[in-house]
Amino acid sequence: MNKVVVMASGEGSNFSAIVDRGIEVDRVITDNPNANVIKRAEKVGVPVFAFDRKEGDRKYGSGWCDRMVDESIPEDVSLIVLAGYMRILSPYFVKKWVDKIINIHPSLLPAFGGGCHAIKDAWEHGCKVFGVTVHWVIEEVDAGPIITQRAIHKFDDDTLESITDKIHRVEHYVYPDAIKKLLQGET
Ligand code: GAR
Repeated sequence: MNKVVVMASGEGSNFSAIVDRGIEVDRVITDNPNANVIKRAEKVGVPVFAFDRKEGDRKYGSGWCDRMVDESIPEDVSLIVLAGYMRILSPYFVKKWVDKIINIHPSLLPAFGGGCHAIKDAWEHGCKVFGVTVHWVIEEVDAGPIITQRAIHKFDDDTLESITDKIHRVEHYVYPDAIKKLLQGET
């Protein structure tokens, strides 16, 4: 049976989209004890492993949280799905789970990679086309092989808010689609 682990730091709308599409999630791992994804996971009965990265790093030194995260991944995991996980994973973690970690990023990579404000950066750059990329995770941030992409065209009456909303809506069908295909060995 497939074992999917979702890692998220914030709202968790992609987590919900994944669950709503019938993908069974084994657990959610978060580095933010206040993340809304915790409430979403509890609502649908998915176990949550929450760590306070800032607190942990302060107490035990950097790398502590990555070790805790690593220990929370089941050895027989099929796919580690980053869904708004806003921390850079350690080289150790990426090497250990190579070919099992995927990420979604709200831009047409390699444009606007490497940050947490890709949509705003693209907007401020004056982009006419926005997008979404699902990719494999390698040590270099947002640089792994691309699994799938979707372009979203800006209309004259779009605002940063409306484009952000469109991008999220596209994410919510593109990510579950990609995950389903990967689990079925189609990609
Ligand atoms: C999503 O838009 C995702 O693409 C982005 O964070 C958001 C999380 O939303 N990820 C990144 O920017 C990664 N660098 P969610 O918590 O509602 O799923």
